Amino acid sequence: MSKTIRIGMFGAWRGNSYIDLIAAEDPTVIKIVAVCDKHANMLDCVKGLEEAKGFTDFDEFLEYGKSVGMNAVFLANYFHQHAEFAIKAMEAGMDVVSECTSAATLKGCVDLVRCVERTGRKYMIAENYPFMTLNMEMKRIIDGGTLGTFLYAEGEYNHSGTLDTLRTLTPYKYHWRAWMPRTYYVTHAMGPLMYMTNSMPKYVSARAAHSGLLEEIRDFRPNDDGMARMFCEMDNGMAASFTGCTAQASDYSRYRVVGDKGSVEQAGYTNGKVRLYYEDYTRPEGVSENVSYVEPDVAAWGEKAEKALSAGHGGGDYWIVQNMIDYFRDGITPFFDVYKGVAMSATAILGWRSCLNHGENFRIPDFRDENDRKMYENDDLTPFPDDNGEGATLPPSTMYGKY
Ligand SMILES: NC(=O)c1ccc[n+]([C@@H]2O[C@H](COP(=O)([O-])OP(=O)(O)OC[C@H]3O[C@@H](n4cnc5c(N)ncnc54)[C@H](O)[C@@H]3O)[C@@H](O)[C@H]2O)c1
Repeated sequence: MSKTIRIGMFGAWRGNSYIDLIAAEDPTVIKIVAVCDKHANMLDCVKGLEEAKGFTDFDEFLEYGKSVGMNAVFLANYFHQHAEFAIKAMEAGMDVVSECTSAATLKGCVDLVRCVERTGRKYMIAENYPFMTLNMEMKRIIDGGTLGTFLYAEGEYNHSGTLDTLRTLTPYKYHWRAWMPRTYYVTHAMGPLMYMTNSMPKYVSARAAHSGLLEEIRDFRPNDDGMARMFCEMDNGMAASFTGCTAQASDYSRYRVVGDKGSVEQAGYTNGKVRLYYEDYTRPEGVSENVSYVEPDVAAWGEKAEKALSAGHGGGDYWIVQNMIDYFRDGITPFFDVYKGVAMSATAILGWRSCLNHGENFRIPDFRDENDRKMYENDDLTPFPDDNGEGATLPPSTMYGKY
C-alpha cells in the first residue's frame, strides 16, 4: 500500500492557501501533521485540522515531526531562507517542496544540490505559474509540434500594488520584500517558458530600470527599481527574455513562444484564451485561419483539471499539490526538480550582477557538474540583510551602486 504523505507546513502566510488545498485531499493520501510559524497568531489555522500541532520554533517542529512520522516539509518561509531550511529538513530524513526560489546565493544553490544528492531525499519547487490553465493550454499546443523551431520566448510577471498593499506585504524594515532586487523573483516569468519549451538557461545578461514612483517610498522599500529584464541563451538554441517581478503600470502578466512556423501567446488582451498564429504557408492541415483564439477545453483534460479551476493562481496551486502526491508518494519526478530550481535561482542572482554591470554576460553554472560547484561553493554575495540590517553585500537597487 502507498504511504501517506504526512506533511509539515513551515510558514503560515502563503502556507495557509496550501493548508486549505491539502485539507481538501484524501487524508489517507496527504495530510498536514504540523505547522510552524514564529508568529503564534498565524497558527490559528491548526484549529481546523484534525490532528496537526502548531510550533513557533523550526527545530521543535522538526523534532516533533520525527516523532509522528512527518515525511515531508513544505517551505513557505521567507523567500531568501529556503535553502538553509530545506537542508535541515532533508538531513532530518524528510522530502521537501519549496516555495518558488531554491536559494538566494550561488553557495546556497551548491549546498542544496549536494544535500539532495547526499541524502537521496526528494526535492521540488512549488513554482505554480507554469500550471495556470492558460499556460498549460499553451504547452499543449506547443507539444503538438506545429510551431517549428523555437526562435524566442517572452515572459512578464507583473505585481504592482498600492502603497498600502506594499506596506502590508513588507511587515518590517529588513523584510526580504524591501531588499529584493527586481531580477530575484524570476520563477513566475521564467518557469513557464522553461516548462513550455523544455529548456534550461545557459547564459544571462540583464538590465533594470529605476522607478521614480517607488523612489518616493524608499524609506521602507530601498529596492526602488520598477523592472528588470533578463535575456538568456537557452540550451535548445532559443533566446528567452523575461522579467523578474515588475511593478510597472500594467494589469497583467504575459507569455509568448515564437517558432519559425507559428507563435502562441496569452495575456490580458487575449481575453482568457490562447492566441495562435500561423503564416499562410505554415498552417497545419485542417487549420483554416491565420489567427485563432483557443479556449482550453478543460473538461477534456479530466476531473482533476475541473477541480483546478477553483484553485489559486489560475489553477496552478492545485497542480503543485498533485505534483507533490505524484512525486513523494509515487516517485514521479516533477519538471521543477532541484536542478531546474537552482538554474532559475542562479539566473536571478547572476542577472542582478549583470544589471549592476551594464548588461555583462554571465554563464549559468551547471550544478550537476562538481567542477562548477567548486567554482561557486563560497560565493555568498547577497542583497538581503539579516534582522539587524547587517550582512548585505550587494545593493538592492541600481540607484545604490555597481557590482
Ligand atoms: N507561488 C506563489 O504564487 C507565491 C505567492 C505568495 C508567496 N510566495 C512565496 O512564499 C514565501 C512566503 O511568502 P509570504 O507571502 O507568505 O510572506 P512572508 O515571507 O512574509 O511570510 C513568511 C512566513 O513564514 C514565517 N517564518 C519565516 N521565518 C521563520 C522562522 N525562522 N521560524 C518560524 N516562522 C518563520 C513568518 O512568520 C511568516 O508568517 C516566499 O518565498 C514567497 O515568494 C509564493
